[in-house]
Amino acid sequence: MSSKSHSQAAARAVELRRKLEDASYRYHVLDEPNIPDAEYDRMLRELDELEATHPELATPDSPTQRVGSAPSAKFAEVVHAVPMLSLGNAFTDEEVQDFVNRIVKETGDAQPRFSVEPKLDGLAISLRYENGVFVRGATRGDGATGEDVTANLRTVKAIPLRLRGDAPEVLEVRGEVYMPLAAFEKYNAWAREHGEKTLANPRNGAAGSLRQLDPRITAQRPLSFYAYALGEVRGAALPPTHSQTLAWLRELGLPVSSESGTASGAEGLLAYYRRVGERRAGLPYDIDGVVYKLDRYDQQRAMGFVSRAPRWAIAHKYPAQEVATTVESIEVNVGRTGAVTPWVLMTPVHVGGVTVSRATLHNADQVARLDVRVGDTVIIRRAGDVIPEVVGVILDRRPKGAQPWTMPKTCPDCGSAVEREEGEVVARCTGGLYCPAQRVQALFHFASRRAMDIEGLGERLIQGLVDFDYVRTVADLYKLGVDDFVQMKQRADERDGVVPETVKAGKIATKWAENLIAGIAASRDSTLERVLFALGIRDVGESTAKTLARHFGALQPLMDADEETLKQVPDVGPVVAARIAHFFAQPHNREVIAALRENGVHWPEGAPQRATEGPLSGKTVVLTGGLASMSRDEAGAKLEALGAKVSGSVSKKTSLVVAGEAAGSKLAKAQELGIEIWDEAALLAFLEQNA
Ligand code: IVH
Repeated sequence: MSSKSHSQAAARAVELRRKLEDASYRYHVLDEPNIPDAEYDRMLRELDELEATHPELATPDSPTQRVGSAPSAKFAEVVHAVPMLSLGNAFTDEEVQDFVNRIVKETGDAQPRFSVEPKLDGLAISLRYENGVFVRGATRGDGATGEDVTANLRTVKAIPLRLRGDAPEVLEVRGEVYMPLAAFEKYNAWAREHGEKTLANPRNGAAGSLRQLDPRITAQRPLSFYAYALGEVRGAALPPTHSQTLAWLRELGLPVSSESGTASGAEGLLAYYRRVGERRAGLPYDIDGVVYKLDRYDQQRAMGFVSRAPRWAIAHKYPAQEVATTVESIEVNVGRTGAVTPWVLMTPVHVGGVTVSRATLHNADQVARLDVRVGDTVIIRRAGDVIPEVVGVILDRRPKGAQPWTMPKTCPDCGSAVEREEGEVVARCTGGLYCPAQRVQALFHFASRRAMDIEGLGERLIQGLVDFDYVRTVADLYKLGVDDFVQMKQRADERDGVVPETVKAGKIATKWAENLIAGIAASRDSTLERVLFALGIRDVGESTAKTLARHFGALQPLMDADEETLKQVPDVGPVVAARIAHFFAQPHNREVIAALRENGVHWPEGAPQRATEGPLSGKTVVLTGGLASMSRDEAGAKLEALGAKVSGSVSKKTSLVVAGEAAGSKLAKAQELGIEIWDEAALLAFLEQNA
C-alpha cells in the first residue's frame, strides 16, 4: 500500500477525481470519450485504494461511491418540493394541430417555438444537487411523494455525483432513467441461459433495477439517464427558455438527449415526429413518442395547467412495436439434450423495422398460459434484435373450432416418446443419439470451439452429414475422407436444386473438403477436459468437465466411478453425479468413446491433480456476469494460478463470488448465503497485488 504523506495523498485524490469526472462527462454527456476504459478503471482503482488507506479523504461525491452500498429494508419517502407532473397525449396529427392552435390563440404568437425531445421509455426521477453535490434522488411516485433511491442512482454512471462549473445552491433535475437496449438484450440472453426470469421490456428493466433494495444489484445493471426538466432551483437565474435550460444542464455535466432540438408551428412538430420515427428502430434506447414543450417560460406561465398536466406540453405517441398477425402453425424444435421447444409460424408481418414470420413460445407452459392455437390472431412484440415473442391472443378473433395445442407425444424427428419429468418445464425427446435432431445438435456441440474446436464444421454441414447418413456418432467424424465430403455436398446440392457452375467447382470442392479433413485431424490432439465437455453429458459444462478431468486425471477411473465416488468431487452434487454415472453406464456411450480412441483421438492423462498452492488455496470461487477487462475464462485461470478452485455454481461451499456486469441469480444467491462478493475492481486490485 501507499506510503504517501497525507497532503500528497489528498492532492492525488483531488487530481484523480477531477480526471475521472472529466472522463465521465466526456463519455456520457459529450459522447466524446477521451481515455480508454482500462485507464478509467485504473484511476478509479487507485482512488479507491487511496480512500481506503486514508478514509478521511473519502467524499460522498467521489466516483468510488458508485459501487453500491448495503441493502436497505425499504425506501424512505421523499416529498417533491415541486410536484412531478405528467403529460397529456396526442396520437394523431389533428390532436397536435389542436394543441398548437390552443397555444396560438392564447399566447397570440402565430408561430410559437417548441423544445422537441424524444420521449424515453424508462422511469421518471428527480435528482437533487446542493452546491453542486448530488444529495438525493427519488422516483416520481404519485407525483407528490416518491421513494428515496439515492443509493441506487449513485450507481448510474451517467448521473454526475458533482456538477461542473458554477452550480446553484439547490438544483433539482428531472429526467428519465432507462436501460439501453443492448444492456436489456444482454441481460435477457443471460437470464434465458441461466433459467432466470427475463425482463418483459427495457422499461421494466429500468424500473426493477432502480427499485432494488440492494444497490449492489443495481450496480450490475447498466442503466443510463437523460435530463429533461427542472424541479426546485435556488440561487440561480434561469434562462428565458426551456431549450436554453437544457443547454445549461448539459454544461453542468448532465446528459441531455442529442435528439432534442427546437421546432416551430404544427408542421415543424410533425416533421420532427416523422424524422425521429424513422430513426426510432435504430436508436440505442426505447422511445414511445416525442414530447413538445412550449419553449418560452413566459408563454408556459400564460398557458398554465389542467389537473396534473401542463397545457404547454404534450406527448405525441408512436404506435407500439407490437403487431397482430395470425398463427399458421405451431412447430417444435429439438435441441441437443432433446429439449422440445415450441414456436409459431405466422403470416409475415412488419414490426420494429423487420419482417418476421417466426416467434418463440419458450416452452409448453408458456403455450398453455397464453393458450395460443393455430388460426389465432396473436400480438407479437419485437424489442431490438431479440427473437419476437408472442405476448397475447386476441380471443375475439379466434376461429370457430380452434383446438388447444398439446405437446406432441412423439418426436417429429425420430418418433421416440416425448416426456416431461416432474417439476421440469421442458419436455424432452427420449430418443437420445438415435434422434437425428439431437444427433445434429450433439455433433455441432462436439465440434464447437470450446469443445473439440473443429474448424469449418458448422450446423448446415453437420445436417448434411446426418441427413445422408455419413455419420451416426461423433466418432464417425474421424473416419470421413475427402471423397465423403465431396459426395455429400453433391447429394445435398442435387436435393436442394443447386447446380454447380463450372468444371472448376470440382477442384474447389476438393480443396474445401481437404481443409475440413485437416480441421478434423487437428482436433485429434486434445485434452481430457475438452473431450469430457464435448461428449455432451447433460449438466456437465466446461467448468464441471475441468473439475472432473483434474480430479480423476484419466478417463477410465472416471468411467468406472460410481455415484458415491462422483459425489466426492467438489461441486458435483447428487443430480450431476447420477447423470455422469448414467452416461457412462450406457454401452453405446462406451462404444463411442472406444471408437474415438481407435480413430486416433487422444489426450494426455496423469495422476489426479491437487490445486495449486497460493493465497487462494482451499477457496472455491464463482465468477458470474460479464467482466470488462478480460473474459471469465482468463479471470478463472488467473484465480486458479493463485490456488483457487473455480466453480460454476454458488453453494454453501463457495468462498467468494466475483460479480461482473449483469450478474443475477448467482449474485443474489451469494448475498442470501452471506458469501463474500467482489466486483471487477476488487478482482483486478487483488490480481495486481498478487501478480
Ligand atoms: S416532461 C412537465 N420530457 O413521460 C412535464 N417527460 O407522461 C413533465 N418522459 O413522467 C415531463 N421523456 O417519465 C418529459 N423528454 C421528456 C420525457 C418525459 C419521457 C416521461 C416521464 C413523465 C412521462 C409523462
